[in-house]
Amino acid sequence: MSALRSTSRLFAASKPLFRPAVFARSYATVDPVAQVSATGHATTSITPESKTSTVQEPTPSEQPRIKKFQVYRWNPDTPSEKPQMQTYELDLNKTGPMMLDALIRIKNEIDPTLTFRRSCREGICGSCAMNIDGVNTLACLCRIPTDTAKDSRIYPLPHTYVVKDLVPDLTYFYKQYKSIKPYLQRDTPTEDGLEYRQSPEERKKLDGLYECILCACCSTSCPSYWWNSEEYLGPAILMQSYRWMADSRDEKTAERKAALDNSMSVYRCHTILNCSRTCPKGLNPARAIAEIKKMMAAH
Ligand code: SF4
Ligand code: SF4
Ligand code: FES
Repeated sequence: MSALRSTSRLFAASKPLFRPAVFARSYATVDPVAQVSATGHATTSITPESKTSTVQEPTPSEQPRIKKFQVYRWNPDTPSEKPQMQTYELDLNKTGPMMLDALIRIKNEIDPTLTFRRSCREGICGSCAMNIDGVNTLACLCRIPTDTAKDSRIYPLPHTYVVKDLVPDLTYFYKQYKSIKPYLQRDTPTEDGLEYRQSPEERKKLDGLYECILCACCSTSCPSYWWNSEEYLGPAILMQSYRWMADSRDEKTAERKAALDNSMSVYRCHTILNCSRTCPKGLNPARAIAEIKKMMAAH
């Protein structure tokens, strides 16, 4: 069973339209003997593994900087209980700089029942996508706001069924991805029997497309996808579709276009641009959708 999480929050209007791609970052817990200022919770030693991942010590501070994190909780084992927000407190002097650092610290040292996905901590795997302070983003690339007077609020990706706590059910999203045949399709072998080659210009057309990590931040920020996700493919999947249409080595452009040639798959995009505004990799799925529309209109 999973619960559908509706969204009443608006996305932060003050964000710049496109953000630069963000690259590798550092650590989870920074203090060798971590003291968590959670209500009623005690001092805990961190694991050696956490210590080895520390690459930089924060500036020591006399005064603790206690920040509250309100986190969405829902447990499928008690489905009759409504989702609720649970508040945790951490001393920012002893916590890594990113939201994922805070979540890992909460799970390791305060509440092991808190559930979320993460893997790479480098913005590569896409698994830590969630809604943080009103914006869909990757927890590992999202800095903790240092204003301790303001709580941070963390939800699963909007308008998704929830598996547990911050884990969205992306089964249908992956089915849609599979439906666009996201792989090279070609019947003609090369003359020399070697690999399929491209000119530098042809290869350049894939820049800004191949970097997508399928985190679903864009699709779950798209109002059209919220209301029509059964039939509308959404920005992430459409950008991947265009990635193959734009590939000079692929020979199935006509078939790919034919599969999209209906009123729902592409044309539910109304160029609202939430998708490009929210992409944590700085990509522009709305432009890819516009390119698909141009190709479809060509004949
Ligand atoms: S386009 Fe950006 S937001 Fe959308 S799935 Fe790809 S990386 Fe995530
Ligand atoms: S531009 Fe299209 S895909 Fe992007 S948010 Fe708007 S409607 Fe959705
Ligand atoms: S943990 Fe992999 S993208 Fe955040």
